[in-house]
Amino acid sequence: MAEYVLLGGGGHARSVLAALRLRDLPVRGYLAPAPSTTMPGLAHLGGDEQLELLEPGDVAIVNGLGTTESTRARQALHEAVVRRGFTVAQVLHPRAFIDPGAKVAEGVQVLAGAVVNVGAELQEGALVNSGAIIEHDTVVGPHAHVAPGAVLAGGVRIGGGALVGLGARVIQGISVGAGSVVGAGAVVVCDIPAGVTVVGVPARPRADEGRTQ
Ligand SMILES: CC(C)(COP(=O)(O)OP(=O)(O)OC[C@H]1O[C@@H](n2cnc3c(N)ncnc32)[C@H](O)[C@@H]1OP(=O)(O)O)[C@@H](O)C(=O)NCCC(=O)NCCS
Repeated sequence: MAEYVLLGGGGHARSVLAALRLRDLPVRGYLAPAPSTTMPGLAHLGGDEQLELLEPGDVAIVNGLGTTESTRARQALHEAVVRRGFTVAQVLHPRAFIDPGAKVAEGVQVLAGAVVNVGAELQEGALVNSGAIIEHDTVVGPHAHVAPGAVLAGGVRIGGGALVGLGARVIQGISVGAGSVVGAGAVVVCDIPAGVTVVGVPARPRADEGRTQ
């Protein structure tokens, strides 16, 4: 089995490391600009430039970059790693429920307590954070982030790179466009176009709509 190398040394990297350790997966170390106090017991292998010295056949890469207001940096890192020929590993927490009928692509992360129900599809690099619920037949687009405690009802479509914020809810059958941001706590009851930030209950575009992530 290939060893794992984690990119990043912050809070999200710590969460994915915990999930990998609970699965007894072999983690060689992490790459970050400087040693991190939040990565106890794991070797700091150097900065991102050390990636050049790794062999794609020997290690699988884990994306340890989190997202708060934008998914862009996380997506860029994933794509740079794939361009260099590496596999971006899935991180599926052992205490997440993922229905066997769900589709889970390369580089997807599903963290503690999340539920991914039957017929759901998580596309490349998607992040389903702790305690989020992805109901039946819902599609989470590439590199989108469903933040902790968010709930997507059945048949929802989340566009690539979108962020569904902490505790937000999206009712059944709704589409959220690529790169859009659903603010923490919002309840989305109608389709959201691409590149828009919505907040509130029911969710409405902010006054400065037009902002892209
Ligand atoms: C919606 C969001 C992206 C806006 O971020 P921002 O552009 O930095 O916005 P600001 O903090 O400057 O706030 C701008 C205004 O929007 C309001 N606002 C911000 N977030 C809001 C939210 N989730 N719901 C309602 N109003 C919100 C602020 O109160 C402020 O209002 P004011 O102008 O009347 O004072 C952000 O607040 C948010 O909810 N992000 C999701 C975070 C998240 O889920 N992270 C996951 C970590 S794992």
